[in-house]
Amino acid sequence: MADSEGPNRQTSAASRAADALAGGGLVIMPTETVYGLAADAANAAAVARLYLAKRRPAFNPLIAHVTGLALAARVARLDARAIGLAEAFWPGPLTIVAPVGEDGLVCDLARAGLDTVAVRSPRHPAALALLEAFGGPIVAPSANRSGRPSPTTFADAVAETGNAAQAAIDGGRCEIGLESTVVALLDGPPRLLRPGAVTREALEAVIGPLAAAHLDAKRSPGRATRHYAPDASLRLAARASKRGEAFLAFGPSAPGPMVFNLSPSADLAEAAANLFSFLRAADALAPVAIAVAEIPRTGLGEAINDRLERAAGHVG
Ligand code: TXA
Ligand code: MG
Repeated sequence: MADSEGPNRQTSAASRAADALAGGGLVIMPTETVYGLAADAANAAAVARLYLAKRRPAFNPLIAHVTGLALAARVARLDARAIGLAEAFWPGPLTIVAPVGEDGLVCDLARAGLDTVAVRSPRHPAALALLEAFGGPIVAPSANRSGRPSPTTFADAVAETGNAAQAAIDGGRCEIGLESTVVALLDGPPRLLRPGAVTREALEAVIGPLAAAHLDAKRSPGRATRHYAPDASLRLAARASKRGEAFLAFGPSAPGPMVFNLSPSADLAEAAANLFSFLRAADALAPVAIAVAEIPRTGLGEAINDRLERAAGHVG
């Protein structure tokens, strides 16, 4: 883990990676949510290479990562609600979508031509060290090929990105394991575009009610059907596995050769942290399908169920 390697090693890894970004290269960057594949937000050629490496449709905009509120306020026009959320949850797993700022710090391509921009300040020390060393906003989608589960370990990030990255930072296993919460603060009420570790309840405690969920389904351009998907098909809310199926259990359950328990003690945070790596591990066994136990929908359970339903192709 980067933390145990000491501050000097972390600083030199960050400065090497910052040099790679400044030269137009791509960098594997750990965050507390999932690993990202990073590029200089202002460099359209680098961003074009990033879309190509991920095989990501260019109409799906990227998140600009920043050191904190001061830089965010140059990237985006943040209203009082946005500032309240940033003060409450940054650095951390919350992305704010707001009208784009006038400084041109995030190129058109990274925003997919929209007049809005997504911005977040991550709390992983290696990500913050890279942002400090680089000095400007860094765009970083999850480091998976488009449509695949996000990588939550360094090895998975390397496997997903092949030789696309010019530098890579090993930050250990991602603490949260699910992508950041995305909330849009544009005209009208705030909208939850992607549930995550900053829960609906936590957001509402700061800015009041969010718009009804059914209005949000198609708002975030990246929220396509069968996102985060393994190769095997998924069977949700399963009580047990059928013949040939792998099983993602939750809570006490009998062990077995194809059983992966997301959290034996039924802890949602533990299940979130394990979800994508266990989906990958189950998929690697080439099962006839992956059966997944029912997961409660409260708190972090909303984000877990969102990812599972998308991986199963149930939501459009
Ligand atoms: O946790 C995370 O957010 C990770 C780490 C690496 O920071 N990043 C991540 O990026 O998940 P990505 O590109 O896989 O997901 C970004 C999401 C997409 O659903 C995208 O459509 C949405 O944010 N998004 C970005 N800009 C937007 C905008 N201007 N309006 C609406 N949605 C936007
Ligand atoms: Mg992604």
